[in-house]
Amino acid sequence: MLSIRRNDPCQYDTLAGEWWRPGGGFELLHWLAAARAELIPRPGTPGQVLLDAGCGGGLLAPHVTALGYRHVGVDLRPPGLALAADRGVTPLAGDVAALPLADGSADVVVAGEILEHVTDLSGTVAELCRVLRPGGRVVLDTLNDTALSRLITVTLGERFGVVPTGLHDPALFVSPARLRAEFARHGVPLAVRGIRPSLPGLVRWLALRRDPDERPLGRVVPTFSTAVLYQGVGRKSGPAPAALVTATAADVRRPW
Ligand SMILES: C[S@@+](CC[C@H](N)C(=O)[O-])C[C@H]1O[C@@H](n2cnc3c(N)ncnc32)[C@H](O)[C@@H]1O
Repeated sequence: MLSIRRNDPCQYDTLAGEWWRPGGGFELLHWLAAARAELIPRPGTPGQVLLDAGCGGGLLAPHVTALGYRHVGVDLRPPGLALAADRGVTPLAGDVAALPLADGSADVVVAGEILEHVTDLSGTVAELCRVLRPGGRVVLDTLNDTALSRLITVTLGERFGVVPTGLHDPALFVSPARLRAEFARHGVPLAVRGIRPSLPGLVRWLALRRDPDERPLGRVVPTFSTAVLYQGVGRKSGPAPAALVTATAADVRRPW
């Protein structure tokens, strides 16, 4: 019987040792971060701001540092923020539904595995779009609000230890249709595609979980269905900095 409150952000404090543990409880988040990073355009000029909303332990940092962004992370929980700061993220304590950033201050807004955790989705999307500058890009991934998603990520995921118990409240999962409507209201048309973990990686991770020296090196790949996990990309309407537009066309793989 589960005795903890579902989707309690304080759970991430107890799990802080998992953020960077090879093959640990957040291994799938590493694969998702790598797949998300492929959708981030190269900055037009060095030092452009990338907001990582709900940055957790900063798993996106190695990818963003390589691109040359100033990586700003906002999260509710200090232990995760401290780990993110260790990886070069500028940490800001705060709620993604009330971002501590000025209007239009981010060139790119990333929302990786956070939208299925927020209790005010409309307010959060409004905030993400407020801080994104015109022409800026949003990149996200989240869990769909379907019976299959609930079965895989909560019932089976928790049963087999792939997802830490109680981390998700399935009532907060988000359908692509709802997300697209929310972003569209703020001038950000969103394109979505389904993703899934690679099966060999998943099997290898499950087999190697108890070996502290092994990182299973799985990855997340596109799939035909958005029924469980999906990514989204969008650009805020308005004048785009030329360099960002050029880089987007050249560097972002958008096969959907
Ligand atoms: C599943 S983790 C994802 C972390 C990171 N984006 C990644 O993909 O590795 C969710 C993170 O969101 C944070 N979080 C949850 N609700 C939040 C909120 N309302 N505002 C800011 N951060 C929040 C949690 O503390 C946690 O670090």
